[in-house]
Amino acid sequence: MAQLFPKWTNKTPRMVASFFGVGAVGATLVVWKFFAPGFLWAGYRPQQPVPYSHLLHVGQLGLDCRYCHTGVERGAKAAVPPAATCMNCHRTIRADSPLLAPIREAAAGGKAVEWVKVHGLADYVYFDHSRHVNAGIGCVSCHGRIDQMEVVRQVAPLSMFWCLDCHRAPENHLRPREHVTSMDWKAEPDQRTLGLRLKQERGINPPQHCSACHR
Ligand code: HEC
Ligand code: HEC
Ligand code: HEC
Ligand code: HEC
Ligand code: HEC
Repeated sequence: MAQLFPKWTNKTPRMVASFFGVGAVGATLVVWKFFAPGFLWAGYRPQQPVPYSHLLHVGQLGLDCRYCHTGVERGAKAAVPPAATCMNCHRTIRADSPLLAPIREAAAGGKAVEWVKVHGLADYVYFDHSRHVNAGIGCVSCHGRIDQMEVVRQVAPLSMFWCLDCHRAPENHLRPREHVTSMDWKAEPDQRTLGLRLKQERGINPPQHCSACHR
């Protein structure tokens, strides 16, 4: 009589068992890798020397990102502002606040405020803000709703896969340049239609070859 099942199925229980065995080890490795300090990107939010709040200054006072991050349209680095930028207001607003003491000292010629870096790429990766912002990628695509953050946290993995995911389909993110710093702008009629049109009009074609990002 013909066999209903091929012979190898006899081994199936063992294969299933070993698959799950490997799976458990694999899962352990994944957990280990991603929860190791260097991989704790989701929600990483270090303590800062001055409790500066984007929620207050951007979300409530309505300051534009470029008022402080002056490099975003011009160079590789967005740049964190010097104390003098803060003093434009804090010379008079909350001028005696103890929370602002490090800012006053720095502005008076003392040591610069040592902001703790939140985002960081390995130094073998080349990244330039101006190229992205001028192509019409909004800050929100990579940094999330900064205007709602009391304390800045990293919301994207900044991994190679993440970069390439957008480089393959930038239409999912392209917007008119005048809205690059807007946090709640909505595409009309929808992101894909607008994105494809902008991509074609501007001849946007993000690189996927290794030497673009590893120079
Ligand atoms: C009044 C000045 C000011 C404005 C306006 C401002 N920022 Fe900032 N930003 C700072 C300061 C100071 C820091 C460093 C302290 C911190 O991380 O909170 C910072 C930090 C950041 C960081 C984290 C930097 C790092 O270390 O990786 C990001 C991202 C950022 N800002 C994005 C934005 C975006 C997007 C906007 C506009 C929606 C914006 N900021 C508006 C002052 C400002
Ligand atoms: C456009 C004006 C403006 C600029 C520029 C500005 N701030 Fe402010 N900041 C304010 C206002 C308004 C408040 C709220 C004051 C209040 O609640 O009475 C405030 C409040 C604060 C507070 C809370 C102070 C307290 O005692 O509770 C801190 C800390 C602060 N700002 C830090 C900064 C830093 C750091 C910078 C520069 C990166 C900066 N601010 C730039 C207007 C500004
Ligand atoms: C395409 C993704 C992308 C966009 C768009 C983007 N950023 Fe960034 N941003 C990054 C990455 C990646 C880093 C880390 C860079 C590094 O370590 O060299 C970073 C770092 C920063 C920093 C830390 C310090 C520095 O000088 O680089 C600030 C501040 C910042 N971004 C603000 C902004 C603002 C404001 C905008 C919008 C005008 C913006 N970014 C748009 C990806 C992006
Ligand atoms: C949300 C979309 C998006 C993300 C995320 C993104 N990029 Fe880009 N990238 C673009 C667009 C759009 C361009 C512009 C292409 C053009 O002008 O034709 C670009 C261009 C570039 C270029 C070529 C221009 C130059 O500066 O030489 C490099 C390099 C680059 N990106 C690196 C990166 C790296 C590294 C990351 C991840 C850390 C990243 N990008 C993440 C959309 C993105
Ligand atoms: C769009 C930008 C981009 C392109 C294109 C790109 N990479 Fe990467 N690559 C990255 C980023 C971002 C990282 C992660 C850096 C980090 O962890 O800080 C990375 C990491 C790596 C690493 C280290 C991996 C690890 O586990 O640490 C290697 C190896 C690498 N890339 C090789 C390549 C090769 C080969 C190509 C071409 C096939 C390539 N990359 C194309 C952005 C890019």
